[in-house]
Amino acid sequence: MIVAIDGPSASGKGTLARGLAKALGFAYLDSGSLYRAVAAKLLAAGFDPNDAAVAEQVARAISPDDLERPDLRSEAVAQAASRVAALPPVRAALLAFQRDFAKRPPGATGGAVLDGRDIGTVVCPEAEVKLFVTASAEERARRRSKELIEKGESGIYARVLKEMRERDDRDTARSHAPLVAAADAVEIDTTDKDANAVLAIALAVVAEKRKSFRRD
Ligand code: DC
Repeated sequence: MIVAIDGPSASGKGTLARGLAKALGFAYLDSGSLYRAVAAKLLAAGFDPNDAAVAEQVARAISPDDLERPDLRSEAVAQAASRVAALPPVRAALLAFQRDFAKRPPGATGGAVLDGRDIGTVVCPEAEVKLFVTASAEERARRRSKELIEKGESGIYARVLKEMRERDDRDTARSHAPLVAAADAVEIDTTDKDANAVLAIALAVVAEKRKSFRRD
């Protein structure tokens, strides 16, 4: 079974994806970390994240080890990731990695959970379960600034909200694989829900899907 989870940043999709993968015993891929790894490698080598030719080369050479880089979660890398993610050759180069993971999840598990922006629409349109996780921009900025402060980085709310809106706009407005809910996705608004409540909703969606498999 493939579970596709999409949504904007700090919507709670990563927490949900990890929780679901653990509860179901599935492998988990945070597809955003692929774009972040490309961006981090470009920045570290002094390249412009808008340089499509270099970014494509870096994307083609991404390995699982790159997803463990300690610099992936910085705000600079997040902004650069949303720029490289708008480049079609980069998206094409990362597609095989993601599809391969979904079809042959590591660790001989019964399935895979992938989260990102285009998992249900482009990467795995055949996914049995599709979830689209949202929350208000204000709530997402609040969560993100708390996270930054906990890491010892500057988490000024107004700046975080502004940068989040810029990133949302870029991710939603790009012509190639924009952030959008698949027509058959179940939408979960996490604005007023804690992680356990969101996980319970998602597990109920998965259970319902499994029941309908058995009926067919
Ligand atoms: O989920 P995240 O914040 O780690 O993602 C970083 C950037 O990568 C985000 O701004 C958009 C991009 N991204 C994407 O375009 N498609 C995906 N499937 C995942 C992430």
